[in-house]
Amino acid sequence: MNVATSIGKVDYDGLIPNNVGLGQDVRVKRALEKWHPGYINWWKDMGPEGFQEALVYLRTAVSVDPKGWAKFDYVRMPEYKWGILLAPQAEGRKIPFGAHAGEPVWQEVPGEYRAMLRRLMVIQGDTEPASVEQQRYLGKTAPSLYDMRNLFQVNVEEGRHLWAMVYLLQKYFGTDGREEAEALLERRSGDPDTPRMLGAFNEKTPDWLSFFMFTYFTDRDGKMQLEALAQSGFDPLSRTCRFMLTEEAHHMFVGETGVTRVIQRTCEAMKEAGIGDPFDIERVRKLGVIDLPTIQKKANLHFSLTLDLFGNEISTNAANAFHAGLKGRYREHRLDDDHRLESSTYPVLRLLDGKIQNEDSPALSALNMRLRDDYVTDANVGIGRWNKVIESFGIPFEIKLPHVAFHRHIGEFSKIKADVDGKALSDSEWEAKRSDFLPGDDDRAFIESLMQPQNEPGKFASWIAPPKLGIDNKPGDYEYVKIV
Ligand SMILES: [Fe+2]
Ligand SMILES: [Fe+2]
Repeated sequence: MNVATSIGKVDYDGLIPNNVGLGQDVRVKRALEKWHPGYINWWKDMGPEGFQEALVYLRTAVSVDPKGWAKFDYVRMPEYKWGILLAPQAEGRKIPFGAHAGEPVWQEVPGEYRAMLRRLMVIQGDTEPASVEQQRYLGKTAPSLYDMRNLFQVNVEEGRHLWAMVYLLQKYFGTDGREEAEALLERRSGDPDTPRMLGAFNEKTPDWLSFFMFTYFTDRDGKMQLEALAQSGFDPLSRTCRFMLTEEAHHMFVGETGVTRVIQRTCEAMKEAGIGDPFDIERVRKLGVIDLPTIQKKANLHFSLTLDLFGNEISTNAANAFHAGLKGRYREHRLDDDHRLESSTYPVLRLLDGKIQNEDSPALSALNMRLRDDYVTDANVGIGRWNKVIESFGIPFEIKLPHVAFHRHIGEFSKIKADVDGKALSDSEWEAKRSDFLPGDDDRAFIESLMQPQNEPGKFASWIAPPKLGIDNKPGDYEYVKIV
């Protein structure tokens, strides 16, 4: 197919697969081709370590039609077809919110909002390569080829998300867009001098339980941010984010089912050994599975780090971006109000006189809080499914999300040390209880001891159950990664 159109056909002939007519856009095509070698260098330096030559059974987007957009095949990751794919343009689309609500969407950057828009894209773009960097060593300890392949699928798609933002920067922001595109390849997750922009993306992802928690909790922040940007009045950003969301769904699937399978295996092993008490940690660990209290601690850690990504509860930046029509609310189109929010309020959980309580605040300044509330609701759904598994084994244990004030570094609650129920603790109480709430050195050492690679097709490490279904309907012993 050599014809690129805006309705979903992808031009696969050039270096950069795309459905944005790159062949006719010489300036942007050249800019991206110039950026490409630096990207490949970054991927080889910072992408999955030790597996650049492996043949991985990956899906590649061949269309943006939600019904049939992917094709599966073996590919070496550095040869993956990272492309630029936008969801179809919606005829007659109007700006859905803010001061310009009801006006036709922008196809070019509105001059007055240029700096704000660029910043939104750079922040989003920066998270994409960051997570690849955070996950780069995990291939070496994969619990199965199935899981290894899923890790690499997530990684190449995060790489594609970087391309998505870089395309917008190169196409719409000229010289400064080009500089930002370069800088996105220069920052490094966890580097003390040139860190990634957001805290959670500078943390380590040291083991596979962390990976599953990260894809469950942190990729879900990605989903919320993309949903909010998919509402944007700047139409190319909206279309870009709409297609990214189809990929993001898979990342959260990997996280949710990953944790489910860990829980499943733990419960099975406990049942086989006749252990009914989930807090009989030493005996459970001797079975080579991860005890439920440690899984809870990992959830506490990743949930609290992810909440920080929503920023301050009260934020002028969020208000400005909404007012300008650049970043909306989660599923803005389903909300029944004036979509301008100039005179409405929203209850914000705050620390007032040392107590955690709701305070009605101007809705425009409370948009981060609102998105975080929507996030917590969304994150709770999968937790319910994890608990169903535990319940089906009759084990008296329930995974719970900690209070939003727990272990925070940004916003209202960064000033206090709260326990998982939101009760404020003194510094010494916190230090004494910290290892009840968060993984400690011994927990980390135990999990690390389990991280032994299992590279035989169809086999799984002791601590994780096999998935219910294979990828692309493949049988259980399919060789998802051919390691060379
Ligand atoms: Fe992403
Ligand atoms: Fe993701």
